Amino acid sequence: MSEHFTEAGSVDAVTSRTGPETDARLSRVMSSLVSHLHAFAKDVDLQQNEWSMAIEFLTKTGKICSDERQEFILLSDILGFSMLVDAISNRRPKGATESTVVGPFHVANAPKRAMGDNISLDGVGEPCLFTGRVLDLDGNPIAGATIDVWSDNADGFYDVQQPDVQPKWNNRGLFTTGEDGSYSFYGIKPVSYPIPDDGPVGKLLAKLGRHPYRPAHMHYNVSAPGYNNLCTHTFVGDDEYISSDAVFGVKTSLVAPFEPSDDVDAKWESPFDFVLAKA
Ligand code: BEZ
Ligand code: FE
Repeated sequence: MSEHFTEAGSVDAVTSRTGPETDARLSRVMSSLVSHLHAFAKDVDLQQNEWSMAIEFLTKTGKICSDERQEFILLSDILGFSMLVDAISNRRPKGATESTVVGPFHVANAPKRAMGDNISLDGVGEPCLFTGRVLDLDGNPIAGATIDVWSDNADGFYDVQQPDVQPKWNNRGLFTTGEDGSYSFYGIKPVSYPIPDDGPVGKLLAKLGRHPYRPAHMHYNVSAPGYNNLCTHTFVGDDEYISSDAVFGVKTSLVAPFEPSDDVDAKWESPFDFVLAKA
């Protein structure tokens, strides 16, 4: 008979129960999770009232989740965990555009748009012309790449956060590159905004002395047959939150130019090339 539970032998007491038929990956992941979880409790000398607070926090986090709101992902985001998993899962060769966090506001099957179209349907905000190319690692254009773009409006909200205020599909669209791999569309220069902070994650941020803001960014998902999918942003470099993104999404290589434009229809222009690695 194996030893009963002791503080010193706590990890073994749990992991030795895993059955011999258990999937090898599940067994490894759960053993490591139990080991780190127990080490954490021992490290901070976790007390029962603190354990109760944690259970209450997780319960509230679950209860606020709905089809429109995913508070657990938000929790993962503010702990830097989403960015860590993104980094581990998307190790790319040098020269390929870096990825960043997806966020909760992507909507699949946005309307297909023609190059040069305007995605800002509410017409509010500072017009910006977005241009660039989708390239492979050798600098060759990738034809037939899909660029799925989404951003907040001038008030810092996505259309899905304000279904009664904004036109459906405001600041969203799907573009397909032609032979030269280029893209161009009009939108607005994005603005910084707070992540949803009226739930348990927002309260935790406040207790930690942290603000909930993300620096202004455009979301892109760039995909092409035979290439790794790229989910990324471009950032406005002089944004006041560029060094303190609530979800740690900023990478230096993703800061894009936002320059005054001579275009009659735009106040700003933002050129940026996306480089995809082969799958
Ligand atoms: C976003 O950029 O849309 C986002 C990312 C993480 C959490 C909340 C929002
Ligand atoms: Fe965003």
